[in-house]
Amino acid sequence: MNVLITGGTGFIGTVLVQHLLERGDTVTVYTRNPDFDDDVSLRYVTRLDDIAPSTYYDAFVNLAGESIAEGRWTAARKRALVDSRVKTTEQLLELAERLERPPSVLVSASAIGYYGPQDDTPLAEDGDTVDCFSHQLCVDWEAAAHRFEALGTRVCITRLGVVLDRGGGAFAQLDKSVMFGVATWLGSGRQWLSWVHRDDVVRAITFLLDTDSLSGAFNLTAPEPVTNRGFSEALAAHRSTLLGLPVPGFVMRAALGELAQELLLTGQRVVPTRLKEAGFSFEYRSVDQAISALLAR
Ligand SMILES: NC(=O)c1ccc[n+]([C@@H]2O[C@H](COP(=O)([O-])OP(=O)(O)OC[C@H]3O[C@@H](n4cnc5c(N)ncnc54)[C@H](OP(=O)(O)O)[C@@H]3O)[C@@H](O)[C@H]2O)c1
Repeated sequence: MNVLITGGTGFIGTVLVQHLLERGDTVTVYTRNPDFDDDVSLRYVTRLDDIAPSTYYDAFVNLAGESIAEGRWTAARKRALVDSRVKTTEQLLELAERLERPPSVLVSASAIGYYGPQDDTPLAEDGDTVDCFSHQLCVDWEAAAHRFEALGTRVCITRLGVVLDRGGGAFAQLDKSVMFGVATWLGSGRQWLSWVHRDDVVRAITFLLDTDSLSGAFNLTAPEPVTNRGFSEALAAHRSTLLGLPVPGFVMRAALGELAQELLLTGQRVVPTRLKEAGFSFEYRSVDQAISALLAR
């Protein structure tokens, strides 16, 4: 497969690129960083305009986006979060329109923030949504991706949960206090944390690229989500930590504002219904299994 990837330099993208190269695919990464050197099957481009119209990509994978969990959501930051996703997707669409043959498939990222802050109800892909900034961001991001359908491209949207692995992402934050001997949970700790192991994210994206019959939105979360406190206690058990403490919600809200309220103090219990129906099997189903594997790395 010849694959063009945005966000191929990030936490998920780096491992996905490696996986695709290992199975014999050819990869082009669209990046803002001009310092990468091309390799045998790996090319970097900083301008989509440099891609010749005769180039054929079997697939686009769209992962680009400013980090949503860093810094308060000021008006300027919100604009950057939206633009880095929606405008990048629109630029990809302009490229697809310019190519003699558009890609056969687009796998485009979205997030479980699509559902907004929720209670204990398990959420399949057709689950209820609650309006908020992250919901609207995901709606706009997904709508931009769906515009590829007019070109005959198969579109798969991955509503990603909290992606866990060593070396980045949320796990380092979740593990930090436990390493110092205190298991903390945020606010009530009853909010759901729909997590997914990075290896399963890479496998699921590849599965969607390869399975011609699949399209539409897919929750990309492990089959067994846990509460925030449940995650913290599972991690503490693996690290033999005895002391558990909540971080009060008002402290989080004072420090991080809307970000704390939407991303940390509330959550959603998301289940990967469509991936399971399609026959995808998760290697990491339970949080105990994932934590054991992560701490062994
Ligand atoms: N990791 C998670 O837990 C998680 C959960 C839900 C959704 N997601 C979504 O999945 C995608 C990939 O996640 P990730 O954790 O791999 O993200 P990441 O490590 O932050 O990488 C995202 C990539 O996006 C590109 N990027 C950053 N700011 C940009 C901007 N202003 N304009 C254009 N491109 C920009 C960067 O590529 P260059 O610097 O090379 O240009 C970067 O490599 C993101 O869109 C994220 O929102 C991730």
